[in-house]
Amino acid sequence: MEKILVIGCSGQIGSELTLALRKLYGNDNVFATDIKQAPADILESGPFHILDVLDYNNLLHFVVRYNITQVYNLAAVLSGNAEKIPQQAWEINMKALMNTLELGRDSDAKKLFWPSSIAVFGPTTPRHNTPQMTVMEPNTVYGISKLAGERWGEYYHKRYGVDFRSLRYPGLISHKTEAGGGTTDYAVEIYFEAIKNKSYECFLSEDTALPMMFMDDAIHATIKLMQTDGEKLSLRSSYNVGGMSFTPKEVAASIKKHIPDFEISYNPDFRQAIADSWPASIDDSVARKDWGLNDTFNLDSMTEVMLREIKKKL
Ligand code: SER
Repeated sequence: MEKILVIGCSGQIGSELTLALRKLYGNDNVFATDIKQAPADILESGPFHILDVLDYNNLLHFVVRYNITQVYNLAAVLSGNAEKIPQQAWEINMKALMNTLELGRDSDAKKLFWPSSIAVFGPTTPRHNTPQMTVMEPNTVYGISKLAGERWGEYYHKRYGVDFRSLRYPGLISHKTEAGGGTTDYAVEIYFEAIKNKSYECFLSEDTALPMMFMDDAIHATIKLMQTDGEKLSLRSSYNVGGMSFTPKEVAASIKKHIPDFEISYNPDFRQAIADSWPASIDDSVARKDWGLNDTFNLDSMTEVMLREIKKKL
């Protein structure tokens, strides 16, 4: 019987992944944790605890006490926020990962999911259809921490047998919980503002293309990767995951099909430079081949769901 620990259950990914895991493994077998309160549906459907991943003794104690076998570690400072507190962001992102890797040596929690990101690539990487194996010279703190994290994950797998698995998520778009402090967050905010105000001021320029994925596809991919027979995984660093690719101008056009008087303006800030250093689109053929990644949403089908769900919520 798998006992699963989710670290960061109150965040953008955790708030949806936790519920998907509970459906699959049973409510009582999925322990949701965060340093802040969880959303109501997580509190009501199963166990929730306040837990700080940076406190290793406490974390190990928790994992032993509840016989945890799998960990999803979703705690991170995102790209935009990390640039404001570089040294601290490095400390937090790396310590959070190292602590969950160490669990694999000290306890039965040997299977670990940890998200990497398109941020591992940098300005010297080929921008279009970025390959799995290519030049990686990230120039953001967030990207440096994700690339180092991938290397550590692979190292712990080889050296200590930790069952480390990871995806390089593109920008993730969802309506349940907004992200915080990321560069791809505009593509979430724009939908909320479209419903609230019929207008949005974008912090990236109109033609900035970035890889993006709807949360349903990301959750599906994450669980699929974790359920794949380990022998099929040719990579123990992190898999490219492409999703779709679009610009702010294209999302605005997609929204206008539903809200004709929606208006967008552009006022790029420091995040423009981060976006410019990242790929515009991703080659994820290795993930498709190794474990059958298959995403289903495109820009227009995602727009439909986003607008419908946000309208309900507001
Ligand atoms: N969505 C993240 C960010 O913008 C990238 O992984 O920081």
